Amino acid sequence: MTTTAKILVTGGTGKTGRRVAQRLREVGVPVRVASRSAAVPFDWADRSTWTSALRGVEAAYLAYAPDLAAPGAPETIDAFTRQAARAGVRRLVLLSGRGEEEARACERIVQDAGPAWTVLRASWFCQNFSEDYLLDPVRGGVVVLPTGDVPEPFVDADDIADVAVAALTGDGHHGRVYELTGPRALTFGQAIGEIAAATGREIRFMQVPLQAYTGELARQGVPSEVVELLGYLFGTVLDGRNAVPADGVRQALGRDPRDFAAYARATAATGAWTATEAS
Ligand SMILES: NC(=O)c1ccc[n+]([C@@H]2O[C@H](COP(=O)([O-])OP(=O)(O)OC[C@H]3O[C@@H](n4cnc5c(N)ncnc54)[C@H](OP(=O)(O)O)[C@@H]3O)[C@@H](O)[C@H]2O)c1
Repeated sequence: MTTTAKILVTGGTGKTGRRVAQRLREVGVPVRVASRSAAVPFDWADRSTWTSALRGVEAAYLAYAPDLAAPGAPETIDAFTRQAARAGVRRLVLLSGRGEEEARACERIVQDAGPAWTVLRASWFCQNFSEDYLLDPVRGGVVVLPTGDVPEPFVDADDIADVAVAALTGDGHHGRVYELTGPRALTFGQAIGEIAAATGREIRFMQVPLQAYTGELARQGVPSEVVELLGYLFGTVLDGRNAVPADGVRQALGRDPRDFAAYARATAATGAWTATEAS
């Protein structure tokens, strides 16, 4: 692939897409960021936005929202990848969820779509603690979740972005399914302990039953599809099936993934976890 080929980055304002776009720009690859808030708005739910997003694109990073396991995702991914192939896209890199059986239908659609493909099956992102729904609880000093002793090998979004860029621009990644995890599995309580150590703050972790958790989210006005998704992730996927780390980062990049402790130290140094006043 030449460096003048344009690459479409869906979810390009999100945790992985933003990093993918930044890395591509740094090596001089033209990028089109696609999301509802992008300069040219792109919406998975509005097919009229797809044509302009795909114009002149040679490769695409697919970070579907809200989740490949959500109802309707296979139909949307099918229509989008068909349109992408017709528009001349020659390479697709799909971000998928490790252990999400429901996401496999979307993976197969991408694998059968025609363009060269790579699937990135990622475990839970470290950045959920610093750039998503766990940020406010960490800053507030109390994290309440419906999970206890099940360990998860949290993966750093920087590692996912490095693999995505390699697959979008380099050779040798076509037809590969990479299981992307960190090097070490931690329970959520242990992860909070690492963050507390890195920040020098006291941060408490509390386990609650799943129904109490989803009920509280609904009471706070969290959209029902987000509540359902979190219920699925904590109630179904986080059952230990993903506890053993995988070597997808090493397979793709020839190096080890970043450890959670290194992520925690680097993030603490940015001030992202500075305590907020208790309400
Ligand atoms: N978070 C994890 O731990 C994890 C683990 C494994 C796999 N994944 C997968 O990663 C993908 C991204 O999830 P995430 O939670 O990490 O979110 P994210 O990428 O941090 O944020 C979502 C991105 O998608 C965009 N977006 C949201 N709704 C959209 C829509 N209807 N049409 C177009 N773009 C839309 C958002 O921008 P706008 O708001 O501007 O549209 C944003 O750029 C999902 O497929 C998820 O299954 C996540």
